[in-house]
Amino acid sequence: MTTTTYVKHEVKDLSLAKQGQQRIQWAGREMPVLRQIQDRFAQEKPLAGIRLVACCHVTTETAHLAIALKQAGADALLIASNPLSTQDDVAASLVADYGISVFALRGEDNETYYRHVQTALDHKPNIIIDDGSDVVATLIQERQHQLSDVIGTTEETTTGIVRLKAMLKDGVLTFPAMNVNDADTKHFFDNRYGTGQSTLDGIIRATNILLAGKNIVVAGYGWCGKGTALRARGMGANVIVTEIDAIKSLEAVMDGFRVLPMDLAAPQGDIFITVTGNKHVIRQEHFEVMKDGAIVCNSGHFDIEIDLKSLKSLASDVRTVRPFTEEYRLHSGKSVVVLGEGRLVNLAAAEGHPSAVMDMSFANQAMACEYLVKNKGKLAPGIHSIPRDVDEDIARLKLQAMGIAIDTLTPDQVEYTNSWTSGS
Ligand SMILES: NC(=O)c1ccc[n+]([C@@H]2O[C@H](COP(=O)([O-])OP(=O)(O)OC[C@H]3O[C@@H](n4cnc5c(N)ncnc54)[C@H](O)[C@@H]3O)[C@@H](O)[C@H]2O)c1
Repeated sequence: MTTTTYVKHEVKDLSLAKQGQQRIQWAGREMPVLRQIQDRFAQEKPLAGIRLVACCHVTTETAHLAIALKQAGADALLIASNPLSTQDDVAASLVADYGISVFALRGEDNETYYRHVQTALDHKPNIIIDDGSDVVATLIQERQHQLSDVIGTTEETTTGIVRLKAMLKDGVLTFPAMNVNDADTKHFFDNRYGTGQSTLDGIIRATNILLAGKNIVVAGYGWCGKGTALRARGMGANVIVTEIDAIKSLEAVMDGFRVLPMDLAAPQGDIFITVTGNKHVIRQEHFEVMKDGAIVCNSGHFDIEIDLKSLKSLASDVRTVRPFTEEYRLHSGKSVVVLGEGRLVNLAAAEGHPSAVMDMSFANQAMACEYLVKNKGKLAPGIHSIPRDVDEDIARLKLQAMGIAIDTLTPDQVEYTNSWTSGS
């Protein structure tokens, strides 16, 4: 009898590995940029000897990032950045087929989630890839003695960057943090087109409702909000935007959307989507005036945008009517439907962003890790942009892979754009 020894892990069921591997391979078809980086990493081993922790949504796309990091020579350990986004078959395959340690279970409770954060820190990381900044925040609060091991962190999402800025302001961020979110090849595409499409995908999978003709209220007109509003309109919905920023509101108006405060949007909406990164954007006074059967969901990073506590206080009964779909029956006789427990609906009820956008986001992640190691000891503590040439290289590789050629400046144009003497 032979027994297989696996790397350290806590996943739901290793027998799901075969299905996971098939799905990982399928996603890879749309990830040519990361594949090229992975091939180079396999040759050059830029992360040799580096202990690396990645706290990401454990999806088919993240699998490709983890594989690339391992090929680069890193001793990588992966944990879930969200209790509802883990794809258990992918987690199984990473352990069984690729020898990568994963600690992630779909539906894990908060206690398990934070236990996994501790497991990640027990790995004594030199580099932390974070998504929402929970690992970095825990490290700083609870493991000061490990700070000297850390070369740096890379942050995937807007909310994580907001937290890193707060850490910097409080003087506790003692290592460099690469701002992957703000790379153009990340947020222009991932936040906008990725969140836009996958959020609607999550709503449709959870409810199977027709979007055409519905009033969809999008809270927040940042990158995710713009993509969500654009795609909802494309499906024939009447989109209402709510904002707190005057410039973004104006942009939404001129993009052709109705802009209203949430108080006025609440009675009109059929479906509400929050993408603000802020807390309690939909709260008691809004639930009270919503239409019977209104659907609310969130695609912002944390499950704080919808005040579920106040909704529970208004409800006499909560029942699950479909997977990821809960109906709150209110004392008033009306009902409000919540998708994915108010967590990222695109990851809870669908599969997260399509691979083609994660290709660029994770290309930035992989390049940011290499950059941190190459510049070890040279980068000041604080938040650093992804170098412009890396961003442009990723865009170029993506265009190349899509078979799209673009123009280059002629020498005459270079001279013209560099001179100030020739006017009208
Ligand atoms: N679902 C996903 O897969 C996914 C992907 C990327 C980012 N995110 C998350 O989505 C959230 C938004 O990201 P983004 O890149 O669009 O950020 P952003 O900063 O570009 O946009 C957020 C917008 O929300 C607005 N806002 C803040 N408070 C508000 C309130 N009370 N009411 C209405 N609007 C308000 C802000 O003015 C801003 O325009 C973040 O939490 C981010 O981490 C999720």
